[in-house]
Amino acid sequence: MIKTVATTPFDGQKPGTSGLRKKVPVFAQPNYAENFIQSIFDSLEGFAGETLVIGGDGRYFNREVIQIAIKMAAANGFGKVMVGQGGILSTPAASNVIRKYKAFGGIVLSASHNPGGPNEDFGIKYNIGNGGPAPEKITDAIYARTKVIDTYKIADVADIDLDKVGTQTVEGMTVEVIDPVADYVELMESLFDFGAIRALIAGGTRVVIDSMGAVTGPYATEILEKRLGAPAGSVRNSTPLPDFGGHHPDPNLVHAKELYDDVMSPEGPDFGAASDGDGDRNMVVGKGMFVTPSDSLAIIAANATVAPGYSQGIAGIARSMPTSAAADRVAEKLGIGMYETPTGWKFFGNLLDAGKATVCGEESFGTGSDHVREKDGLWAVLFWLNILAARKQSVAQIVKAHWAEYGRNYYSRHDYEEVDTDAANGLMAHLRDSLASLPGQTFGALEVEAADDFAYHDPIDGSVSKNQGIRILFKGGSRVVFRLSGTGTAGATLRVYVERYEPDAARHGIDTQEALADLIAAAEHFAQIKTRTGRETPTVIT
Ligand code: G6P
Ligand code: ZN
Repeated sequence: MIKTVATTPFDGQKPGTSGLRKKVPVFAQPNYAENFIQSIFDSLEGFAGETLVIGGDGRYFNREVIQIAIKMAAANGFGKVMVGQGGILSTPAASNVIRKYKAFGGIVLSASHNPGGPNEDFGIKYNIGNGGPAPEKITDAIYARTKVIDTYKIADVADIDLDKVGTQTVEGMTVEVIDPVADYVELMESLFDFGAIRALIAGGTRVVIDSMGAVTGPYATEILEKRLGAPAGSVRNSTPLPDFGGHHPDPNLVHAKELYDDVMSPEGPDFGAASDGDGDRNMVVGKGMFVTPSDSLAIIAANATVAPGYSQGIAGIARSMPTSAAADRVAEKLGIGMYETPTGWKFFGNLLDAGKATVCGEESFGTGSDHVREKDGLWAVLFWLNILAARKQSVAQIVKAHWAEYGRNYYSRHDYEEVDTDAANGLMAHLRDSLASLPGQTFGALEVEAADDFAYHDPIDGSVSKNQGIRILFKGGSRVVFRLSGTGTAGATLRVYVERYEPDAARHGIDTQEALADLIAAAEHFAQIKTRTGRETPTVIT
């Protein structure tokens, strides 16, 4: 029973940095999810009889959309769907399943680190056969299709049992419900020295992971508690809940403050890590030391060979433009390639596929490698534990030694959330208009050396992505970067990224906001943030 249903387009189904994200009531409108999924299928070619992977982070509305997606995949001619048990697949696990089983692509249901619940966020993202987010060529085609769509196809059948591992048939299409954890754990065991990490934990290093009521709970429990021998309870908030237990599942100093405070307290654990709603982000904290995502990328790259999966060395490093240049110094020393891409993991895909980059990272708490085509929260945590085990040092010792060797890139991001959209666009337009006149201007001791609107020329496929953020570069290597978030669902979010390079080890112990105070003031001066947004202070500082 294949039904063809008449429909009319919805406005605003434009995929952002990471797929289509909207509030649940928007997604719950009749035909809304169906239109978008059909637009995905209509933008693809050659999938008849092929495999589609489907899974999500378990948030509110996950199961409903999975049912729709499976029935539509059957109606559109896929040969098989592989779906995580209970509809669960973390984003990196989904990427792995797509690659491992040579699927045509995958549909990942998540709004990442945004809250979940009946009035919170939901999202749909399409990943291609390499396991990574669809490139802009495809997301543009999907968007174009959403504007003219007039029918979609769906199998008119009863709901599929998502809770029993095994195989069923839907209108001639095979549906295989898989254990969402097993393949991922096997991959991690192939990359990291589980024996050394087990010995580290057995030796008394206390490790905790906060899964924030989100998807990594089952993965972290299997790995940390079962395979690595950490005591029961080492994984906190380990049951994935549709509303994440009311948590905002974003691993940063604001939303994972409880974990941070616990690790910082003298009697608390030695090492703490957190992941986000769909498991691709990570935060790493050691006693007395929060590791910035930019430093984390640099330190993982500098120590990569301790992990069995990277013992032959890394081919290159890639980072998003707003990420600090700490990794650049590592690449320079190793004599390997360094690539600067726009924000968004999808831009790493070509570099990873071409073997140009092995590890990648973003300031937005994302780190990963060529083992999958998404950033991977638990991968980063395991990499850190492998480094701790190999170096027999604490997080703080490792970070300080790194700064002493390479210099420290003081770094902070100031977010102004849910700002009036026109005001935010006006601020960016003003900056863009002043680009030509900025070089040579001074602010206190700072002098602007160059200013531009970042454009990326993909070295693999030659594509160009313009307007990726305004950079004001000062003499001496400091900079401020302005861009509008592509992942918000309400109003606009202005991000201001501030960075200063400090080679002198005697000056590595300064408070970050203090070390960056003149640059923060310069950002205000050049962008007129207060008058244009009406905000006195950022909503989030990381
Ligand atoms: C998602 C993407 C990342 C991106 C981040 C921040 O997590 O997967 O690649 O860095 O969003 O995006 P935004 O546009 O909100 O700064
Ligand atoms: Zn995420």
